[in-house]
Amino acid sequence: MYNRIARLWRQKEPQGQSGADLEKLLAKIDWNRMPRHIAIIMDGNGRWANSRGLPRFFGHKAGVESLRDIVRACSEFNVQFLTVYAFSTENWKRPQDEVNVLMDLLVEYLYKEIDELCQEGVKVNPIGKLNELPPGVIEALRMAVERSKINKGLVLNLALNYGGRTEIIEAVRAIALKVNSGSLSVDQIDVNTVSQHLYTSGQPDPDLLIRPSGDFRVSNFLLWQLAYTEFWHTTVLWPDFRRIHLINAIVEYQSRERRFGGL
Ligand code: IPE
Ligand code: IPE
Ligand code: MG
Repeated sequence: MYNRIARLWRQKEPQGQSGADLEKLLAKIDWNRMPRHIAIIMDGNGRWANSRGLPRFFGHKAGVESLRDIVRACSEFNVQFLTVYAFSTENWKRPQDEVNVLMDLLVEYLYKEIDELCQEGVKVNPIGKLNELPPGVIEALRMAVERSKINKGLVLNLALNYGGRTEIIEAVRAIALKVNSGSLSVDQIDVNTVSQHLYTSGQPDPDLLIRPSGDFRVSNFLLWQLAYTEFWHTTVLWPDFRRIHLINAIVEYQSRERRFGGL
């Protein structure tokens, strides 16, 4: 596994210090203990732009490059699920111009990247209250889902108009409807029932949550699913985040002891 990836990267990033650093770090990965599911809060775009005296828009645009690199890296690492927080149910509070920019960038990303995503076997799976998104976004998502639905590689959960609380409310409502109709009894409701009614139904919970940009909070992300997830934190801003940071996160994750409440 290491040899295959090192070769792949040498072809893509042939020279330079960063290539050497990357390889050293890559050698530290335990390929038998890879996280199956990685979740990322893609935060810090605005601060990245501000620190350069640029409008926030430039930060969001630069952040798309990070997403490209991380999706590719996860795919090359045979990670099974990657969930990225792209737009929260609270992000509508931002100025309309900024919301428009974020939506436009998403549409552009999907149309530009879909061929390459398909070549890599990535399956695009949007999660969130999708029907509230602008029609152009819904259309682009439909296209990406349709084109990538037979892919067997990395599942890319794009969290859009996503809120952990909204997700739980929707699950509770769906469960209540089943109880109402008599197809489910109240005592049958358990952890699995709730998990099966979330957007991530059928997927393992995230093993690793990455939050760049220095803030220590979950910001309404995957509230149920993160119950036993390992958190990894960095002050690197999302537009500067690359696979080298991802590998650091994975290596540290592999040094943690996960107890799940046991001994
Ligand atoms: C993340 O960057 C992008 C979205 C929330 C959509 P921010 O825009 O939150 O950047 P900061 O946190 O203001 O730096
Ligand atoms: C979380 O970042 C949402 C996304 C990255 C899409 P925010 O920037 O919206 O979160 P807060 O406001 O810092 O909690
Ligand atoms: Mg932010």
